[in-house]
Amino acid sequence: MQFNNLLLHIDQGVGVITINRPKKLNALNKETIQELHDAVKSLNASKDIRVIIITGSGEKAFVAGADISEFSDFSVQQAAQLAREGQNILFDFIDQLSTPVIAAVNGFALGGGLELAMAAHFRVASANARMGLPEVSLGVIPGYGGTQRLAQLIGKGRALEMITTAQMIDALKAERWGLVNAVIPQDELLSYCLSLAEKIKRNSPLAIAAAIRAVNANYQEGVQGYDVEISEFAKCFGTDDFSEGTSAFLEKRKAKF
Ligand code: COA
Repeated sequence: MQFNNLLLHIDQGVGVITINRPKKLNALNKETIQELHDAVKSLNASKDIRVIIITGSGEKAFVAGADISEFSDFSVQQAAQLAREGQNILFDFIDQLSTPVIAAVNGFALGGGLELAMAAHFRVASANARMGLPEVSLGVIPGYGGTQRLAQLIGKGRALEMITTAQMIDALKAERWGLVNAVIPQDELLSYCLSLAEKIKRNSPLAIAAAIRAVNANYQEGVQGYDVEISEFAKCFGTDDFSEGTSAFLEKRKAKF
């Protein structure tokens, strides 16, 4: 696949997507959002790809936000469409993907950039990373799921502090608040994420997909997460992965998924 705004590197079952607009601090314009959708969708469709990592090019930014120049003159209707389409094709799409997605936050993750990182299944930050939802400083609020996911991840009080002050937090505070799982020196960030990917790759992709669905069920309105867990747990028993996993354990060998 050819992209204007992304680099795609596939190696040993891991797809690394690098958002590549460094002169604009990797800001998400419409084309980049569409390309991210296409890249993630095609990686997810490949049985050989077991983990997806999303990062930003350069040493300064993961993604400095949605591209402000594209929507500064939008009407109320256009704004609604922008947020809805973005949530559908990218942010919710990643959140609900069956292949685990890790955000390697290598610098500024602001606005839509932090929302993208939060849509991933988990986040690792470089020591220089800074995160924030500064939208109210522009007279708007987060529109790509930020008001929901930030509160889910760090709690309502901390989320509203970040959103109302529009201030950035550094990587260590983000780790303390549970927004990122670890803080790693920048030059080791990708190799650390690849080492996590190696651990994920040892496990059943079908069970991982079921686990993502079950965990996500907690955040879906009208859905009873415990019931989804029972149903996903039971479905695993009908899979080849379960036969292989349990046989391998009993035969004292490594499972091959
Ligand atoms: N949308 C569009 N362009 C952006 C952008 C965004 N969200 N963030 C950065 N850029 C562009 C800048 O306009 C600049 O382009 P130019 O060189 O053509 O003028 C380039 O990226 C570099 O940014 P600059 O502001 O010069 O870098 P800096 O080191 O001085 O500041 C930031 C870095 C991240 C603090 C600053 O760029 C910033 O505040 N960006 C906007 C963050 C934001 O509000 N995001 C939420 C959007 S809803």
